[in-house]
Amino acid sequence: MKRVTVRVPATTANLGPGFDAFGCALGLYTDVTFEETDAGLEITGCDEAYQGPDNLAYTSYCAVLASLSEEVRGVKIHIDAHIPICRGLGSSAALLVAGAMGANVLRGSKLSTQGLLNITNAMEGHPDNLAPAFYGGLTASMVDNGLPVTVSFPLHPSWEFLALIPDFDLPTTLARSVLPEQVSRADAIYNISHGAMVLKALELGDEKLLRNAMQDRLHQKYRKKLIPDYEKIEALARTYGAAFCLSGAGPTLLCITRDKGLSQKLAGKLPAITQHNWEILPLHVEFQGAQAFPEE
Ligand code: HSE
Repeated sequence: MKRVTVRVPATTANLGPGFDAFGCALGLYTDVTFEETDAGLEITGCDEAYQGPDNLAYTSYCAVLASLSEEVRGVKIHIDAHIPICRGLGSSAALLVAGAMGANVLRGSKLSTQGLLNITNAMEGHPDNLAPAFYGGLTASMVDNGLPVTVSFPLHPSWEFLALIPDFDLPTTLARSVLPEQVSRADAIYNISHGAMVLKALELGDEKLLRNAMQDRLHQKYRKKLIPDYEKIEALARTYGAAFCLSGAGPTLLCITRDKGLSQKLAGKLPAITQHNWEILPLHVEFQGAQAFPEE
């Protein structure tokens, strides 16, 4: 086999209290095509700054070949990214997943999805975006003895996920650099208890429980200073009864609601409370996870 296209969904990580653990796949995609050649590396479809060997799709492609003890030959990589970069919707994880699946499929699919998750988790450092990108749906992951373990959770069908995507980016490295190394026992207990409730509320479709549970003390309070108008937008979303959190490391903000009219309501009010442009994007949950489409 010479050529494969891998389609990877966007992911929203953390879901409030589930820092570095919870994630959900959403219906927005990055497609990456890999074609083995006799030449060197060629990457198209992205800014020149991402066309070198440090491109994440290529680094995970090489990591999988290394774990298979297979030679890296020439490869053409074309990226068709609809997941916005550095916005907290799993664009980096999507490239890592695409590279790993692409290499595996081109060389005979010898590794399992768990094997690919192990390799990419060692690269990303946390499995919360990677796991739902591979498996789809709502997942919680832990890292035990250095290896990720993921379980899937059911989701009530009536949830609407609204991503509020701003016109500025926020590198995850910066958003992680503002977090404290140590947290209090009270904050740890707060997050463990709220996290358990988030998963149950999402299963039951319980809006009130989700609104109350989807709160956090490990990361959002430190990160919100990096996101202009965070508190005003949170207050607005909560006025309408939505559960609210940072999507991953941000700066995208996430509302989860059963109110199909929330998007319209926010669109009417947001411009008056923020100077930035926030795209309001309704997204469905993607239950499929990453898919590979090989061509002979
Ligand atoms: N759990 C990660 C974070 C997600 O919040 O930093 C972003 O990669």
